[in-house]
Amino acid sequence: HGLLRLGIAAAARRGDTQARLFLDPVIRENPYPFYRQVRQTGALVRGRLMWSATRHDVVTEVLRRDAFGVHPDTVPAPRPLATLRRLSRRGMPIGPIDPPSMLVTDPPAHTRYRRLVVKVFTARAIEGLRSQVERHCADLLDELGRAAPHRGPVDLVARYASLLPVTMIAEILGVPPQLRQRFLDWGSAMSPALDLGLSLGQFRRVEAGIRQLNAWLRGHFARLRADPGDDLLSQLVLLDSDGERLTEEELVVLAGLLMAAGFETTVNLLGTGTALLLAHPEQLALLRAEPHRWPNAVEEILRYDSPVQTTARYCRTDTEVAGVRLRRGEVVVPMLGGANRDPAVFADPDRFDVTRGNARDHLAFSSGAHYCLGANLARLEGEIGLRSLFERYPDLALDGVPQRRPTRVLRGYDHLPVRLRP
Ligand code: HEM
Repeated sequence: HGLLRLGIAAAARRGDTQARLFLDPVIRENPYPFYRQVRQTGALVRGRLMWSATRHDVVTEVLRRDAFGVHPDTVPAPRPLATLRRLSRRGMPIGPIDPPSMLVTDPPAHTRYRRLVVKVFTARAIEGLRSQVERHCADLLDELGRAAPHRGPVDLVARYASLLPVTMIAEILGVPPQLRQRFLDWGSAMSPALDLGLSLGQFRRVEAGIRQLNAWLRGHFARLRADPGDDLLSQLVLLDSDGERLTEEELVVLAGLLMAAGFETTVNLLGTGTALLLAHPEQLALLRAEPHRWPNAVEEILRYDSPVQTTARYCRTDTEVAGVRLRRGEVVVPMLGGANRDPAVFADPDRFDVTRGNARDHLAFSSGAHYCLGANLARLEGEIGLRSLFERYPDLALDGVPQRRPTRVLRGYDHLPVRLRP
């Protein structure tokens, strides 16, 4: 593992743009000037380890074309990145973002995994959860009020933004909501695994998080086999027709992905959204006056400061994008957060504007085969979660310095100190 970190650090010292994305603290705080620089350099910018793309059209093309896959084993030759990655994974248990996770599986296996769970996340099924989301928001906002000291700040992330998504995904999957704090702890231990160049401490925490989550899921599956409910995980456990049944490993990884993806991202939408609206009181006033604008405000938050900043694709064949030739096995990093600030698509892209007409053209949920399975759920939680918060506590204000999460791929706040009343 040390090798991976050394490799990334060495590349960064040699001026490798992509490696800087993962290590430079200035870029972590504000990656947008960096994306602009990459966009102005070219449609695809070559680094020592991988190519970067921040143009909206190029990112869309890479995400949609069959020439690009998500499975790291698509890489045929031992390239530096593949080797470093393999070494870094040695001894690591299989977690929610490792094969056979659908996130890193290409069709046809990908299509099969997705088909098994998609019905629970369709627009219609999620719209049916609206009153449940409203009820959970009301309860959590009551709890938040009780937790808030008369004077002094309360952490909006720990007390609200993280709790709504974990409560909802626990309910959808049929796992006990009382365990939500444990799920959150495992999730935040695991989430740096999306980044390159972890410290040894982070690496150990990732490993422990995965082991504990997997062990709990195995125990849960054993309980469901003995006493199934009518929830999604029971259905997955009970699949028995030939060609349908999932192995224990597939089950653990699929359930782990649904859980972790269900809350590790939406927490950022809620935290970032709160911070952005507090920083733009005129836009918040507009939303209070015209509440039908909330769904578009959620799209603008997703565009302006995307919870998932980058992803990765592997060239499955030699190919060409925007006149640039790519070789089989090469890695492209579609920078979603950068594409969402592309001035060719979004006028005055660095301005936060909840009335923006085409905010929904953002790529925050990716595009193509891996388009976020939970997008409808995330949008509903964003809309109701933010609207209820500001309606319930109209005098909500920052009360301290927000602290960013240390992760690079996932962007948001770890702590957002606020006061609820004047
Ligand atoms: C995939 C973003 C919420 C489940 C993705 C991808 C992105 C994303 C960018 C695709 C990555 C790629 O193309 O490589 C987000 C954001 C969210 C969010 C920004 C919140 C604001 C959720 C929720 C769930 C979820 C609530 C609940 C289950 C998934 C799953 C995948 C996925 C299962 C893998 C889909 C596949 O590989 O086919 N998400 N997500 N996400 N997301 Fe989300």
